[in-house]
Amino acid sequence: MAEENKMEKLVRLLKRRGFIFPSSEIYGGLQATYDYGPLGVELKNNIKQAWWKMFVQEREDMVGIDAAIMMHPKVWEASGHLQNFTDPLVDCKKCKKRFRADHLLVASSLEPKYDKEQPLEIKIKDLQCPECGGELTEVRQFNLMFKTFMGPVEEEASVIYLRPETAGGIFVNFRNVVDSMRMRIPFGIAQIGKAFRNEITVENFIYRMREFEQMEIEYFIHPDSWEERFDNWLQAMKNWCKFIGIKDDNLVLHEIEGDELAFYSKRTVDFEYKYPFGQKELYGLAYRTDYDLTQQQKFSGQDLSYTDPITKEKFIPHVIEPSLGVDRTFLVVLLEAYTEIKGGRTITTEATKDVEILLRLPYHLAPIKAAVLPLSKKEPLASTAKQIANDLRKYFSVQYDETGSIGKRYRRQDEIGTPYCITVDFDTAEDKKVTVRDRDSMEQERVAIADLAGYLQDKFNI
Ligand code: GAP
Repeated sequence: MAEENKMEKLVRLLKRRGFIFPSSEIYGGLQATYDYGPLGVELKNNIKQAWWKMFVQEREDMVGIDAAIMMHPKVWEASGHLQNFTDPLVDCKKCKKRFRADHLLVASSLEPKYDKEQPLEIKIKDLQCPECGGELTEVRQFNLMFKTFMGPVEEEASVIYLRPETAGGIFVNFRNVVDSMRMRIPFGIAQIGKAFRNEITVENFIYRMREFEQMEIEYFIHPDSWEERFDNWLQAMKNWCKFIGIKDDNLVLHEIEGDELAFYSKRTVDFEYKYPFGQKELYGLAYRTDYDLTQQQKFSGQDLSYTDPITKEKFIPHVIEPSLGVDRTFLVVLLEAYTEIKGGRTITTEATKDVEILLRLPYHLAPIKAAVLPLSKKEPLASTAKQIANDLRKYFSVQYDETGSIGKRYRRQDEIGTPYCITVDFDTAEDKKVTVRDRDSMEQERVAIADLAGYLQDKFNI
């Protein structure tokens, strides 16, 4: 299947089957914002819960927080976002389209980074508008933070910003968490939540949005151990990628070097993914030294140092930051899962007829875990099936479907990645058993109704 078509087909499927809708669609939509529908929110919640379980619940060196989106503006002054969280912007003088200057350079295969020999401003002079060939304006720096006002008066003193990353809420709570939870270094604080960036160019469905969600960890360490800790987190992130179904071939680790490395970072590795629209960033892992706590200490005047209870050494903790986007995770999970089959076989060609869609989602992430399908709408099959569905709903999400042929109903469930279909048939009343069909192996097993919940929970490992 051609890669560009795969993206279009996936986007269509996700709307048709209630995963993702354009935001405010009845008003024509709002650029780069999307709403997660009934199945989308289930899948997204499953991703977030799996991340939380792996990185918070199952580790003794991790705790979580849920900080406010609106924070004191000094936080962003201290972090450098107010001064430096900018993108270079150019406009076309003719068609008025707006572009990120660095993206234009990449597209024209010129280097995007600044260098003394040839700054971005000079390089961009050689380029024309990629849409109409018109002349481009000078490069302007544009701050990506959304500004708003706290309280009823719209004046400079009441300006605040919607957080551009969740990390800020973690740094300002470092002291609170150490004191209240008696945490000892090394330890980490995790947070999942919304972040907002007024991106100049928005692109590729949910890849780059203005409102999105992050799953971030700030892992506080002694500087002597940074290399070992960095490697541990690199491995932990690779494990996560495997866990959500990313094939090794689709993941590329990009070591950020030279001018591209932020001045405070000693090492950064970008996890890049081969999307149908090109190889681009999925996640980031950065060793941010003691930059963040030092800055927040300086601007707040509060002591954010840590004293080792054994050695009594007092120091500002250094930080390893694994930063993951929820929405990009959602996208790659679906790209990996999207499969077209014909006559029961996976196809890779551009077939148009009799093609069926199968979402091979990892079972633990599937939005609907099981579907209960009575062979007939008539009694007693329907009420037995409804009772089974209701009983299973106590443990996981279940759909009940009695309309259409059984084949059609299987296909409906395959399209949304449901791992198990449970058929209630004419023998069920007699033997108190149902047939359970596995999505991927297509194997069918006869299971006693009384054992069904345990049987499926074992399969999902929950
Ligand atoms: N605290 C570090 C930080 O925020 P980042 O690389 O700017 O680093 C981290 O963002 C992750 O958040 C990215 O790797 C990506 O997964 C996600 N992300 C960033 N901007 C995004 C956007 N506009 N739309 C969707 N996801 C985004």
